[in-house]
Amino acid sequence: AGVVQSVQALASSLGALPPEFVRPEHERPRATTFRGASPLQIPVVDMSLPDAGCRMVEAATEWGIFQAVNHGVPADAVAELQRVGREFFALPQEEKIWSDNLFHTISPPAAVNHGFWPDKPRGYRQANEAYCGRILRLTLEVLERLSAGLGLEEGAMAEAFGGGDDGLVLIQMVNFYPPCPQPELALGFAPHTDLCALTVLVANGVPGLQVSMDGLWYDVEHVPGALIVNVGDQIEIFSNGRYRSVLHRATVSREKTRMSWPVFVEPRREYLVAPHPRLVAGEIPAKYDYKAKTFENYRYCRINKLPQ
Ligand code: SIN
Ligand code: FE2
Repeated sequence: AGVVQSVQALASSLGALPPEFVRPEHERPRATTFRGASPLQIPVVDMSLPDAGCRMVEAATEWGIFQAVNHGVPADAVAELQRVGREFFALPQEEKIWSDNLFHTISPPAAVNHGFWPDKPRGYRQANEAYCGRILRLTLEVLERLSAGLGLEEGAMAEAFGGGDDGLVLIQMVNFYPPCPQPELALGFAPHTDLCALTVLVANGVPGLQVSMDGLWYDVEHVPGALIVNVGDQIEIFSNGRYRSVLHRATVSREKTRMSWPVFVEPRREYLVAPHPRLVAGEIPAKYDYKAKTFENYRYCRINKLPQ
């Protein structure tokens, strides 16, 4: 909490970045972001078109990320989620747990503990519940298309990860990145892949998300109204490497506060981390061998930076 407090304090009071926030040279955004006419574009998938499934499969294979438009999540559900998140971070310090991010489980209902949710501002809970229901539906559709793209039954991923539709675990996170006096030297989020199966993210319109492709970093130029869907470790492993868990990071802005709302879709705790057996049969060896590690264990090792 102390570190976070100082992040917010320095945003308003200091002219230069304290040394502990300066990234090593090879990670600094200005030196490492691709600029210029890019031959590469993060794919945009129109989910209302008949080719949406193919486009998602292609995007998950090449990039591990796409922007979904016509995704069926109503704009006012997104706007309401953003409103309560903004208002939460605008509360005076003593009225909330002071942090620059917040997260809590939003599904399945049996795993939700509202004691961990903010009780302010008003409407926080309703907004998150409404949004979550929509995201679950979208998630199931993406998992179906990606399963089919591997030549499996449409329900293969939902079945493996969740033991059925209602076993998938959804975690809502809200990230708050205050303005930074020297954005070219800092990062809001260091490079990482998501350890979950899939992430569905909206932001507040301030650019910042970047993804890595062939050793270069690319800005995700956010299409207004789009949801950003990215493949996490569990889908990469399940697919035996055919889909890609995208390496990404977040930059910060000099003038603007950036916010993002990722929903992490996780397998149930006891899920065994492994490629689907049909994708390792015959000539194709398993690229991943976690020796019957559960998802709970995988997450523990990742968070505590232990060997897998
Ligand atoms: C994250 O990777 O969770 C943060 C990405 C973002 O803020 O866009
Ligand atoms: Fe992430």
